Amino acid sequence: MRIGVLTGGGDCAGLNAAIRGVVRAAGHEMDRSVIGYRRGWNGVLDGDSVKLDSEAMRGALPRGGTMLGTSRSSRRLETEGAAPLIAQLERDGVDALVTIGGDGTLITAARLSDAGFPVIAVPKTIDNDVQGTDVCIGFDTALGVATEAVDRLHTTAESHNRIMVLEVMGRQAGHIAAGAGIAGGAAAILVPEAPFNIDGIAERLIARHHRDRNASIVVVAEGAVPDSSVEAPDTGTDEWGNRILDGMGQFVGDLLAERTGYDTRTTVLGYIQRGGPPTPADRLLGSRLGARAVEVLMEGTSGCMVGVHSTGIALQPLAEIAGRTRYLSEDQLELLDLISTAPVLTPLRTSRRWF
Ligand code: F6P
Repeated sequence: MRIGVLTGGGDCAGLNAAIRGVVRAAGHEMDRSVIGYRRGWNGVLDGDSVKLDSEAMRGALPRGGTMLGTSRSSRRLETEGAAPLIAQLERDGVDALVTIGGDGTLITAARLSDAGFPVIAVPKTIDNDVQGTDVCIGFDTALGVATEAVDRLHTTAESHNRIMVLEVMGRQAGHIAAGAGIAGGAAAILVPEAPFNIDGIAERLIARHHRDRNASIVVVAEGAVPDSSVEAPDTGTDEWGNRILDGMGQFVGDLLAERTGYDTRTTVLGYIQRGGPPTPADRLLGSRLGARAVEVLMEGTSGCMVGVHSTGIALQPLAEIAGRTRYLSEDQLELLDLISTAPVLTPLRTSRRWF
């Protein structure tokens, strides 16, 4: 079987771990090979691919970005649909495709699958807003960067008695803002899911500063919107009709300075959140999902996304857990075998499935 792999949409940390997971898992059988398409779907359209084997993966795990390059959707993809993609995949002798991407990549993957081509999707986006998984590749790294930024802003805010506004990414969902805001102890967190009332926030900050808290951090997702009490700046739309996200942090900072009278500064974190080395959690997640995607294809399943489930909080009766050890699960041991070059392990004790 020949497997194709591509990364689509905005880059993030952990993509190379996912590509490596695919290559490692596939490489365990002689009759399997992997080719990587460069520049996402555009690479498939142009027949631009490269052979991927263990040697090609050397040094990939700690590297950010994507070794295959990536692209957003294109007019050709939109107008011609799945047909030219399938024609090229067939010319390349590809039997199944693993797509690593967010919403846009998933839509094209679904089209390909509807047209009868075997596809397994792997979720990635720092925005963490893909349905069907608790977490996407890239989120943990971005969250770490954003939380560190909040921590750093705290010390300078306290030194100068300032309000510090931090704008983070998050177009439609506020996972980074909520995560970094909570983890960093922000005074206010503004997310796209709930329009904010600027007067209410200003009042709370003033009350807080009167209680001797002379510094406040406000985390703003780039896609946050105000309620009807103020008019958001018109930043226009892009070629696809999406709202251009530009300056919500500065807008909030200016309004808060005006309403509170406090010295206020705004920082836009931007692409720092997407770049740089992946955290161990993102390397693990990429490895797990990439390897699992290949396993699923081998089991004869396609037209699905491999997602992570159950990160909620559940109550556990003490009588059932006290004195019991949580071992590596059977599938974790399986992953060790798939990903590493170590000899096959014989499980002695294991716990529930993990990937
Ligand atoms: O990948 C998601 C994202 O990081 C969004 O949060 C952000 O709005 C967008 O990508 C920016 O993308 P581009 O690389 O096209 O500027």
